[in-house]
Formats: sequence, C-alpha cells, structure tokens
Amino acid sequence: MTAAAQGFEAVFGRPAKRLAEAPGRVNLIGEHTDYSGGYVLPTAIPQKTRIEIAPRDDGLVRIATTNVDGGAHLSFRAGEEARRGLWIDYVQGITAVLRQRGVAVPGFDARIASTVPLGSGLSSSASLLVALARALRAMLDLTIDDVDIARIAHAAEHDFVGAPVGTMDQMAASLADENTALFLDTRTLAFERIPLPAQAELLVINSGVAHQHASGDYKTRRAECERAAAALGVPQLRDVDAAAEPRIASLPPPLDRRARHVVTENARVLAAVAAIRAGDLGRLGELFDASHRSMRDDFEVSVPEIDDLVESARAQPDVFGARLTGGGFGGSIVALVKRGSATKVGRAVVDAYARVPGRRATVLVGGLVP
Ligand code: GLA
Repeated sequence: MTAAAQGFEAVFGRPAKRLAEAPGRVNLIGEHTDYSGGYVLPTAIPQKTRIEIAPRDDGLVRIATTNVDGGAHLSFRAGEEARRGLWIDYVQGITAVLRQRGVAVPGFDARIASTVPLGSGLSSSASLLVALARALRAMLDLTIDDVDIARIAHAAEHDFVGAPVGTMDQMAASLADENTALFLDTRTLAFERIPLPAQAELLVINSGVAHQHASGDYKTRRAECERAAAALGVPQLRDVDAAAEPRIASLPPPLDRRARHVVTENARVLAAVAAIRAGDLGRLGELFDASHRSMRDDFEVSVPEIDDLVESARAQPDVFGARLTGGGFGGSIVALVKRGSATKVGRAVVDAYARVPGRRATVLVGGLVP
C-alpha cells in the first residue's frame, strides 16, 4: 500500500484539521465557447477530489496524493512557488494566487485523493484546484465566496500552470451540483441552476484516447477564435450572432468554420436551456447531435474513436442525442438517454467499440457504473 493510500494520519503522523471536496464535471453543451465569452451548460459528476489538510508552522507545504504522476509525495516552501511541469503546480498555483491576493498562506500538509479519472475530459484538474481552494478557505477562515473560489482556481491554472483555458471547469467544480445544469455566462460569470429533466439520465463514456497534442491544439483553436473575432471587428466571438453569417462565411478558412462553431454553439446553449425548461427531450437530443457535428466538422476537435462512440450511442433506442464533451482530441462522450436505459445503452456502446482490437471504452457516469 502506498503511503497516500493509508490516510492522512498514517502519512503525516497527526490528524487532519479540515476536509474539503469538489466534483469533476461533464459539459452538456456549449463547448469551446468559454474563452470567447460565451455560454456553457455543465453539470457535476459523482466523482470527486477530496483533500484533507492541516497547517504547519515552518512554511513547508507537503502533499501526498493517490494520483501518482511524477511522485506521490512532493513539497515546496510557501512563498517560493516555481513551476515544475508536474501535478504539484496546481497546488503551487493556488497558494501563489492566494498570496498575490494578500493571504498569508502558511505551510501545510495535505492529502489528495481523487476519483475523477485523469485525461478523460471531466476536469480532474479543476476539481483538484477548487477542492484545495476550499480546504485552504476552511483552514484559514477566509471569507471568499464560491465564484471567487472559481476565479482563484482559474487564475492558478491559467496564469501559474500556463494552460490557456476558459472559466467553465472551475466554475462548474465550484458551483455545479448533480441534479441541475449550471447555465453560465462566461463573460459575466452570471449563472443559474436549471433542474435536469427527470425523464432522462446522462451517460458518460470514456474513449480511452487522450492525445498528446491536445494542449497544443487547444491553444491553436483559442488563437484562431481570437483572430476570427479581430477580423470581424469585435472583442470576442460572443459579440457576434447568426445575423453575421455572411461576414463569417467570408472569413479565410479555417477561421470561418471556427467562428461558425462558436456562434452556433452559443445559440444551441440557449436553445438547450429552453428545451430543458419545456421538458422537450427530443429537441435537447437534436441539439446534442448538432453540437457534435459542429465540433467535428467546423471546430475539428473530434477524433474517429469519439465519432464512433457518438454514432453507436445514437443508433441505440432510448438515446435522445450524443456528443463529444470537454476539450476534445479524445476524452469522453455524453449521451442523453431515457431514464432507466443507461446501463443497457452503455453496455451496447462499450461492446461495439471493443470490436476494434485495442479499443476499450469505460462507462464513467450513468446506469450501474462498475
Ligand atoms: C477544456 C477547458 C475549458 C473549455 C473546454 C471546452 O475543458 O478547460 O475551459 O474550454 O475545454 O469547452
């Protein structure tokens, strides 16, 4: 048994003082819109990151994790944060951002245990960042609200870790729950929790594919959106609507396709919220399908394995719609299925996928998750 798997007291020789958790997320619709100031609609998943913490008086930060990648135990000195290209950077990011905001962060011991699978497009990093910010808020009695927790987590990932992500994942980890969708305007961070339809359930299936080049391609997509906005003479693509279609069509490729995805995807989020409110699952499913086609053809962030999963989910009875969820280039799909059908649909999709040698998909949410 690794030290981290033994629990806080076995690792650090004293009890933890505080415990905090934050969930992973699955995005229902509104993909690659958040760094253009657009709309998103994520919900929390049952998998979580859990952090136990206790202060130290010598300025040392010691972290034990069960998610081993570059060492299960790492440490640094509070106030001497420096990027290392390892998971500890997420911890250093939070302490560095808190310090910049005037919080005197002391040393501490923390044990991180997460059930959010890494590299599956379900925001394991945002759940870690938000869980740690919450743990420090509790340990230091800080008066920081949940939107601010998300802002701190975003600054840690964007500015310290150096990943040019939008704000969706941190807002979802901080504010979403499992029974509602978080309808978020990423420009203002205004949000509303929309109850999920009782007659449907979500099925999330991981393709097992996680491309190395994903972070480089993500940066490229973001830069293309910025160039498209500049060419259209607006601050962000959020500022363009369907009426601009002729001007979007005249942009040089691939900026025309990129802009079309973002503009139509923002409209689909609004339509999805209306469909949920009206209890129109057929319409909601169509919007999932249209979102997937747009990500595949216009934004070009899908891969053949994901397209296969989406197609085979859509071919099942009791499936309203299915799409790639998260940043793409691998990761997971989310399907909207009739309540009570997720186990059967999940099994059929996983079996069909495994007919190609070497492929193995995993059901992460929905029905009876193994
Ligand atoms: C990743 C990023 C988010 C968002 C999605 C795509 O999850 O962290 O900010 O851009 O990709 O919707």
